[in-house]
Formats: sequence, C-alpha cells, structure tokens
Amino acid sequence: MNTCKNIVLAVTGASGACYAQRFLERTATLDGVAIHLLMTDTAREVWRHELGSGPITGRFSLLENDRFDLPFCSGSAAADVVVVLPCSMGTLGRIAAGTADDAIARIADVQLKERRPLILVPRETPFNLIHLRNMTTLTEAGAIIAPAAPGFYARPQDLATLVDSFVARLLQLAGLQPLEEQYKWS
Ligand SMILES: Cc1cc2nc3c(=O)[nH]c(=O)nc-3n(C[C@H](O)[C@H](O)[C@H](O)COP(=O)(O)O)c2cc1C
Repeated sequence: MNTCKNIVLAVTGASGACYAQRFLERTATLDGVAIHLLMTDTAREVWRHELGSGPITGRFSLLENDRFDLPFCSGSAAADVVVVLPCSMGTLGRIAAGTADDAIARIADVQLKERRPLILVPRETPFNLIHLRNMTTLTEAGAIIAPAAPGFYARPQDLATLVDSFVARLLQLAGLQPLEEQYKWS
C-alpha cells in the first residue's frame, strides 16, 4: 500500500507568491509527501510580478488547472490535504458557491464533500461583506480559513523568517510537520 501523503498546493492570483514558494521548498525536504501543484493564470502573473520569472523551485508534479481528469477531482481518489495558498477572493467565492469550474474549484469541492482537509489562505484587506459571508460558508462546510497573517511574537528580523514562520504554521495545520520551537509563543 502506498503510504505517501498526496498534498495539492493550489496557487491563485492573490498577493503572497512567496508563501507558496516557501511551502514548496519546505515540503521538498519532507519524506513521504508528494506535492501536486496547480496554478491559475492570474497566479502565474502575480508570481512573475512578485518573485520574477525564474523557475519555481521544489519537488512537485505540475497539474493543469483546466483539466478534470485528475485523480483529486474525484472523491474516489481525493487528496490527503489541499492547501490554497494564497487564495484570491475570486477563487474563494467560486469554492463557496460550489462552481467546480476549474480543477482547483473542483478539487476543493471534493475535499468538502469527502470531509477531508481543505486549508484556504486568503489575502485581502479589508474584507467586504461578501468575502466574510463566503468565509463563513466555507467554515461551516468544513474548510479551515487561515488568513495570510503571520505573527510577530517570534521577533522575525527579516522577511524570509517572517514568511517561514507562517509557512511553518501551515505545515503544522496540514499535519505535515510539528511547529518548530522558534516559531512558538514563549
Ligand atoms: C498583482 C496582483 C495582485 C493581486 N492581489 C490580490 C489579492 O491580494 N487578493 C485577491 O483576492 N485578489 C488579488 N488580485 C486579483 C485577482 O488576481 C483576480 O481577482 C483574479 O481574477 C483571481 O483569479 P484566480 O482566483 O483564478 O487566480 C491581484 C491581482 C494582481 C494582478
């Protein structure tokens, strides 16, 4: 039996590509974890804007967001964990509405119907009432809303440490790695 955990990392067109890049770097060092990367068109645009046009580094298989013949699009082969990082308000709204109109929205839909972990990392400020209602709907449906809001209590001295501390929290939430001591409140 294959004991490898299948993790879908869905990157959408919100600001915060650095979190997704760091997630890929951190998971590349973990044993028994297969990362399947999906990106929206806008995610690629934001990524280039924020991180440049260099290669995306990590250990992952790249899946196409306009295909539905992916294993994780079916409840019979659902992912172990799906993380939408960062999650645009557009994608969040589509998942809340159950549109299932691209692979990311469908895979998220499958996670919810199968009662499997779905972690959404929205990045927007301020929120309007529609955003807040969509987040409530998704929470009621079983998703975890984990806003891209890193803490400062570990006194990060640079941006990389700040990003890393937040990604470490996501890895903990996803059940992939315990939170390191330096990122805990003490
Ligand atoms: C540079 C840039 C930054 C953006 N930042 C955000 C953001 O932080 N949050 C958000 O919800 N949308 C943001 N958007 C808008 C989304 O990309 C847009 O709503 C898009 O339709 C989302 O599509 P997707 O969900 O398919 O990726 C940004 C767009 C660009 C070009």
